[in-house]
Formats: sequence, C-alpha cells, structure tokens
Amino acid sequence: MPVVTSIINLKGGVGKTTITLALAHFLAIEHQKRVLVIDLDPQTNATVSLIPELEWKARDESGRTLFQLFTDLVKGSKRFHADEAIVRDVSNIGGGVAGLDLLPSSLGLIKIQDRVTQLTDFEHFSRGPIYGLREALSDFLPYYDHVLIDCPPSLGIVTLNGLAISNTYLIPVVPDILSVLGIPPILDRIDHFASSTRHNIRALGIVISKIRSQTILHNEMVQRLRDDFLDRRFPLVFDTMIPESTRIAEAADVMAPIHTLQQKYGGGSYEYLSELTREYLTHVAR
Ligand SMILES: Nc1ncnc2c1ncn2[C@@H]1O[C@H](COP(=O)(O)OP(=O)(O)O)[C@@H](O)[C@H]1O
Ligand SMILES: [Mg+2]
Repeated sequence: MPVVTSIINLKGGVGKTTITLALAHFLAIEHQKRVLVIDLDPQTNATVSLIPELEWKARDESGRTLFQLFTDLVKGSKRFHADEAIVRDVSNIGGGVAGLDLLPSSLGLIKIQDRVTQLTDFEHFSRGPIYGLREALSDFLPYYDHVLIDCPPSLGIVTLNGLAISNTYLIPVVPDILSVLGIPPILDRIDHFASSTRHNIRALGIVISKIRSQTILHNEMVQRLRDDFLDRRFPLVFDTMIPESTRIAEAADVMAPIHTLQQKYGGGSYEYLSELTREYLTHVAR
C-alpha cells in the first residue's frame, strides 16, 4: 500500500497546496514514484495547477470530480467511478508527467460539506460518512507509491474522509505567531479523530514555508518551533525550510510550456524543494 499523507493546517495561505504540488512533482520526476494527488479543497487550487481549467470544468459537469463522490454519499447514489475521475499523467512539464495522477476537486464540495455535517456525530464519528473516499479508491490506491492529499483549512467531513485513508500528515506553517498558535488544535483534533476511529495516523512533521530568513521575527518563530519540538510539545520540524520566492507562485501556471523541474521551480526554489522531497522520503521510511 502507498504512503498516504494529508497536508493540513486550519489556516489558509500557509503553503499547503504549494508543498503538495512540489512533493508530487519531485517524487514523480526525481524519484520515479507513482503519485496520486487528491485535491480535497473546494478552492480547487491544486486541481487547476495540474490540469487546464476548461478540462476541469468539463469533468466537473460530467460527474468526474470529487463532487460526484460526496454527492453519492449524501444521496446514496453510486455514480462516482474512480477510474473515470482520476486524471493520469498530469502537469505542464513535458506535456504531462508519467506517474503523476490527480483526483480533481470541485467548488460544489462547499455545499456538500454543509449538508453532510448535519448528518455527522462528531464526538464518535460513528454515524458520519467518513469512509466514502476509502471505499471509492480501494481498488486504486495499491497502484501508487505515494498519495498526497491537499486538505481544505477545516476539519469537516471532506477532510475527515482524507484523514481516514492517511497514515501520516504534514503541517505547513509560515513562521508567524498565529500560525504557531494554530498547531496544537490540529494535533489535538487529529489525535481525537485517530483514537475515536481506532486508526493510526502519524504526525510526520512541520514544514516551515515562505520564510524570510533575514527578518528577526521569522528567525525567532523558527527557533520557537524547534524548541517546542525539543520539549516534545510539537512534532518534528523539517530541516528544510522553503524561502519566500516569486518563482514558486509562478510555478502554479499549468499553461506554461516547460520541460524540466528546474524550469518550473528555478531561481532559488528548485534546490529547496528537491531537498524537502528527499527529507520527506527519509521521514516516511521510518
Ligand atoms: N515559498 C513561497 N514563496 C512565495 N509565495 C508562496 C510560497 N508558498 C506559497 N506561496 C504563495 O502563497 C499563496 C498561498 O499559498 P498556498 O500554497 O496556496 O497556501 P494554502 O494552500 O495553505 O492556502 C499562493 O499565492 C502561493 O503561490
Ligand atoms: Mg490550498
């Protein structure tokens, strides 16, 4: 079975999608892994960074995104088919990266989230439909080496479906005070979910992103995170930190015709993301 990792934080704008996409690309291209990206965020940023927007819309309208899966969960229908919904060999690098696949998201997940939440008993997770994703993908997951789940900034039913198939999770943070304060609630709630569902899910670590290492505040926050880890309050903090760089933001353009990872992430980001991926592989191997 693959390593399944949720990339999660209850805050937006901390680099979840960027890190998901970078790990996916580097694992597929530099390590020849078979990778599936599951985009659980209704903002669909990962989806439209991996396939053209028009293709995504056509798929969404014909029931080939996660909207159909969650609609089935609510209505008891069975129209979602993972083999039709998974887009193979996505990305703009070389016109598509072999072994890099995507299960696309949908704006419609917002509506679903509201409807399913009313059905869910959050204390025990017993009545809530948290195993829809697991059932829909059961025949397909064994094909992959790595599954990366880009989570929305909430712990609603959609995210719980992702956690229910995850063996590990990764917390991206930007080094500011609100980000750091946001970490304990994530750890607590995932712990609670794991024990209520009797499902082991390991905190792989914290990845610091968008760092400006010349600023005092950022350096203080990084030190605080590393101290909290040493005091066993927090999970491990990855050695590799992702600097703030405009090239990373530009890399999300799926229409740019490029051929290499260096072209996509050049200008000072490539080396960090390559190193982050190597470090990720050492931590999941433990
Ligand atoms: N290291 C970075 N340097 C500069 N901009 C970044 C970096 N990481 C992310 N961004 C930009 O910040 C914004 C939020 O990042 P994103 O990955 O979408 O966060 P999230 O998924 O947590 O909401 C995006 O516009 C993204 O391009
Ligand atoms: Mg995002």
